[in-house]
Amino acid sequence: MQSTSRSKWLILVICMCLLGFSNGRELKDRHKSRHILYNHTLATILVEYASAVYLSDLTELFTWTCSRCDGWTKGFEIIELVVDIQHCLQGFVGVAKNLNAIVIAFRGTQETSIQNWIEDLFWKQLDAHYPDMPDAMVHRGFYSAYHNTTIRSAIIDAVERAKEVYGDIGIMVTGHSMGGAIAAFCGLDLALKYNSQNVQVMTFGQPRVGNAAFASYYSKIVPNTIRVTNGHDMVPHLPPYYYYFPQKTYHHFPREVWLHNIGFGSLVYTIETICDGSGEDPNCSRSVSGNSISDHLTYYGVEMGCDESSSCRIVMDPRLLGYSNRDSTGNLILSRDPAAPLLKLNTEFDNQGKPVKL
Ligand SMILES: *[C@@H]1O[C@H](CO)[C@@H](O)[C@H](O)[C@H]1NC(C)=O
Ligand SMILES: *[C@@H]1O[C@H](CO)[C@@H](O)[C@H](O)[C@H]1NC(C)=O
Ligand SMILES: *[C@@H]1O[C@H](CO)[C@@H](O)[C@H](O)[C@H]1NC(C)=O
Repeated sequence: MQSTSRSKWLILVICMCLLGFSNGRELKDRHKSRHILYNHTLATILVEYASAVYLSDLTELFTWTCSRCDGWTKGFEIIELVVDIQHCLQGFVGVAKNLNAIVIAFRGTQETSIQNWIEDLFWKQLDAHYPDMPDAMVHRGFYSAYHNTTIRSAIIDAVERAKEVYGDIGIMVTGHSMGGAIAAFCGLDLALKYNSQNVQVMTFGQPRVGNAAFASYYSKIVPNTIRVTNGHDMVPHLPPYYYYFPQKTYHHFPREVWLHNIGFGSLVYTIETICDGSGEDPNCSRSVSGNSISDHLTYYGVEMGCDESSSCRIVMDPRLLGYSNRDSTGNLILSRDPAAPLLKLNTEFDNQGKPVKL
């Protein structure tokens, strides 16, 4: 934000304090945002999905009864839950009637140490070409997590089944951290596949995934993309952007929305700055140093991360076996017919076998 506009904000905030506005009220910095599709309410809903997908109790997720499966996301009808054990990935597809959309969410890294994962990000190379996009280079690990695992076919299959029942409704793809990187590749894939203006991507605390050529292609194909960053979150600063080699380094795609606090004593206001179309707005998260892990782990007040420090453990009620499909390497897909009635395991299977660790 410009320093002049910052001081305008300060004056505005002081006025609001004098007028007695309540603590924590959100302000929006809209001066650059005329045609941008950032919707705060939608962000606060999608962040709940990006948070829920971290949970390891598959029964609660599949029946949408988990602790994070309430509030705005209540009534979500999950169609498919995929756990790629080999690569420690998790994602789901379902239908959110209140959004009139298919929602797809991916989990971030499940490694025991987020510090190690973040340190590794410093050294990630641009080491794969994005197919059919000349000059577009991406990070092979993120690319492969979507394209070269069980994830892609499971997701596409579920989207097809959802479309058969619900028709051509919108598709919203979300994820936090590495899950945001996977969401970007998924959104791009779906937009190419369905040639659809209906695909929307919103990520939280997402690392860079490709170079400037990739960012430019990406933003043409999935223009309806919002990349939310929070305060001093380290991860959006990685892998590093080298200002002097703009064509050779990683480069974010637009559109960043930067959440940051300004405060006076006990009054703290969150400002949402809608950033420019470059993907690397110097006045957004790049204007501060990325030195915070805690800013990475909370978005819009929602906890982002695993429920426990376990690595890729699966907790599942044996009653779900009828919905599940395991391949020879242990990867698991739970799916249900979107046209069938919702699952209600809790009531149907009271007093039956306890959840087991598979
Ligand atoms: C960033 O802010 C500076 C002043 O602080 C301003 O001169 C510049 O134009 C801004 N850049 C962008 C891309 O908005
Ligand atoms: C923002 O998203 C919410 C939830 O989808 C929707 O109800 C609302 O109409 C949207 N607002 C605008 C201005 O599009
Ligand atoms: C996909 O996986 C196979 C087998 O693990 C590997 O040989 C191949 O290089 C991978 N492709 C990409 C693009 O990473």
